[in-house]
Amino acid sequence: MATPLLLRSSLLLHHRHHHHQFPLAKPYPFSPSPSSSSSPARKARFLSLSSIKMQGSEITEETVAGEAEAGASPKKKVFVAGATGSTGKKIVDQLLARGFAVKAGVRDLEKAKSAFSRDDPSLQIVKADVTEGSDKLAEAIGDDSEAVVCATGFRPGWDLFAPWKVDNFGTVNLVEACRKRGINRFILISSILVNGAAMGQILNPAYIFLNVFGLTLVAKLQAEQHIRKSGINYTIIRPGGLRNDPPSGNIVMEPEDTLYEGSISRDQVAQVAVEALIHPEASYKVVEIVARADAPKRPFEELFGSIKQR
Ligand SMILES: NC(=O)c1ccc[n+]([C@@H]2O[C@H](COP(=O)([O-])OP(=O)(O)OC[C@H]3O[C@@H](n4cnc5c(N)ncnc54)[C@H](OP(=O)(O)O)[C@@H]3O)[C@@H](O)[C@H]2O)c1
Repeated sequence: MATPLLLRSSLLLHHRHHHHQFPLAKPYPFSPSPSSSSSPARKARFLSLSSIKMQGSEITEETVAGEAEAGASPKKKVFVAGATGSTGKKIVDQLLARGFAVKAGVRDLEKAKSAFSRDDPSLQIVKADVTEGSDKLAEAIGDDSEAVVCATGFRPGWDLFAPWKVDNFGTVNLVEACRKRGINRFILISSILVNGAAMGQILNPAYIFLNVFGLTLVAKLQAEQHIRKSGINYTIIRPGGLRNDPPSGNIVMEPEDTLYEGSISRDQVAQVAVEALIHPEASYKVVEIVARADAPKRPFEELFGSIKQR
């Protein structure tokens, strides 16, 4: 979704203060380091993906660098949906920089080729339109990804139902694809104010503005609820208005339905998504984030640890 100017400009920082210290979430060890899952079977998976391409099936599979030839990657692989988006691309870049392998799910392979450097053996690009159903997505995700990050958002156009198709059904499809693949880690980039009606923010201009576009926030809330019921270990990240400029200020993290204004750099959102994969404190949580110049710099264990599981 393109950044709505109103959301960007109107989301001046405000948050309620919470000082709870909660017990740690269920442990979820997820580091990019080598694991026993890097097996010959995994190598075979790459080969089967190559054959999908050769048969010219509907799923187009492109290996950016010769990972199949190089043998199985020892890195943990993360599938990123919406990888050519403004936030998605930053998530891909940061995952690679942190030592993960990435399978970038994109709608447009040509766009992806110019967006990403071709010489990173840890990056693979696959075609994945989230509106095309969970079976196709499961095929695109393959059986070598251990977590999925969803950074999709509808692109404004003539289709009034696009937000519903992408931000609700599309995300639900991704969750179902994870179920089919037995993937038990899901990170969703959602938005503050998704539950604005319940927060008494129904007259908040950003809430009205975004819902005028095909009930975008309601669509996202529906998808969130699906994830929360799925049993999959989730972290739902709800950022304030997204900025393209470099990180400024420190990250403020609050529980769900708390923040209703404020903004944050997409770099910082990507950082939170990657850190969520690394820190078990992020498991089964909904976090709202903005950045604020006068906020203290806190380690991610502490930020995630301060949010209660519900
Ligand atoms: N903008 C804000 O201020 C704001 C605030 C809070 C939360 N958010 C949310 O944060 C997320 C990221 O926002 P952003 O502005 O960085 O995103 P963005 O640049 O608009 O990127 C959206 C991504 O979704 C992809 N996409 C759209 N329809 C798809 C489909 N049917 N199948 C697969 N992928 C599809 C797009 O693919 P293409 O690259 O091929 O177009 C693109 O990669 C979104 O969910 C957004 O709603 C935004």
